[in-house]
Amino acid sequence: MPRDRRDFFYRKAKVEGYRSRAAFKLKQINEKFKIIKKGDTVVDLGAAPGGWLQVAKELSGGKVLGVDILPIDEIEGVDIIKGDIRLDTTIEKIKEKSKRPMLLSAMLRPTFQEAGVMTMPVPLTLLPRLLSVQERS
Ligand SMILES: C[S@@+](CC[C@H](N)C(=O)[O-])C[C@H]1O[C@@H](n2cnc3c(N)ncnc32)[C@H](O)[C@@H]1O
Repeated sequence: MPRDRRDFFYRKAKVEGYRSRAAFKLKQINEKFKIIKKGDTVVDLGAAPGGWLQVAKELSGGKVLGVDILPIDEIEGVDIIKGDIRLDTTIEKIKEKSKRPMLLSAMLRPTFQEAGVMTMPVPLTLLPRLLSVQERS
């Protein structure tokens, strides 16, 4: 994305109170594909700083859960789990708090994210983890 466009969404997020520019990406995706519907339970795996959680709450109005290795500041009406989704203990906590959720995920290595570098999509090795949340919930 060109820098001026990136800056536009960065500023827009600040003005509109979203925690990340990614909030607008999820809005765009939802306008096109309607992946989140009213009343849906939504889980964002790798959710810090929480832009998608804010939008998911607006769109669904239902149960919304964010999971991340990094801390996430509170969002009204949203549950937060601090944990590594590669661990069984984290998966169990997610399953306790959500049944058959709409799963969102755009995970990046946290260290890279802190450095502000966009890197990889969800690593293939984590896919079984993601699916196990869906299937066994
Ligand atoms: C691009 S950010 C997510 C942005 C978020 N969807 C938003 O809208 O603000 C990716 C996140 O994935 C998290 N992450 C990466 N690997 C993880 C793992 N194994 N378990 C939990 N979170 C992880 C990182 O800490 C980072 O905060």
